[in-house]
Amino acid sequence: MKRTALVTGGTRGIGRSIATALKDDGHSVAVTYHGNEETAQRFVHETGIAAFKFDVSQFAACDVSLKQIERDVGPIDILVNNAGITRDVPLHKMTPAQWHEVISTDLTSCFNMCRLLIGGMRDRGFGRIVNISSINGQKGQFGQTNYAAAKAGMLGFTKALALESAARGITVNAVAPGYIETDMVASVAKEVLARIVSQIPVGHLGQGDDVARIVQFLVSERAGFITGSTITANGGQYLV
Ligand code: CAA
Repeated sequence: MKRTALVTGGTRGIGRSIATALKDDGHSVAVTYHGNEETAQRFVHETGIAAFKFDVSQFAACDVSLKQIERDVGPIDILVNNAGITRDVPLHKMTPAQWHEVISTDLTSCFNMCRLLIGGMRDRGFGRIVNISSINGQKGQFGQTNYAAAKAGMLGFTKALALESAARGITVNAVAPGYIETDMVASVAKEVLARIVSQIPVGHLGQGDDVARIVQFLVSERAGFITGSTITANGGQYLV
């Protein structure tokens, strides 16, 4: 069935793969972006998917923008919380700003978006929420106390909201990707990344489509019995 989907941070990386895959499935899709204007314009041109610019870490900005998006594309049935940033640095050097930026963009954004959209989903008796967490929220990672905390927080958030929403036709699941070939992973120092890739049993980085295919399934009607779960796609790097 054709639904309306919103993917945060959807103009590049994993978010782009998810947005285009959902469009291929016949859904009506919109994405959000924040920083990279040029990439967003190219994305819109190449995919025909509408992109809305706002900061998902700010509740008031989400409120205003989601009203606009729902006026333009219709009530959101499928929400993919994908937007995320890193500020990698060991804790003993981490500034409060580096902590708060990551927590608010990666975790508080899930509260903002879900809080604003859950009422409509409850009223309509249908919803699909997928939170894009990370292998590093499951296993920890040197230099990522902020990111690992945010991504682990998403897993608890997913389970609690799944319980609250199950009786209303809404499923809430998480995907925990491993190291995927994106700008974010490319920003890790070459020698550090080479060491990480050597620890991936399949022997290479993942692709955005490896994550998108899981999201396509989780948001489908067929996945209605799956809620509160975390599905990993990490090439065998961490087994839970
Ligand atoms: N494990 C153990 N020790 C490590 C280490 C590691 N992974 N990395 C560095 N160290 C050691 C260094 O060898 C060094 O020790 P010595 O002083 O004895 O030589 C010490 O820790 C300090 O290292 P640095 O001075 O190099 O620390 P730094 O301030 O430069 O920061 C870092 C290092 C930038 C955090 C670097 O470790 C790093 O980039 N780590 C990778 C982080 C990472 O994986 N990010 C993932 C980004 S992609 C993503 O997040 C997507 C996703 O979901 C998977």
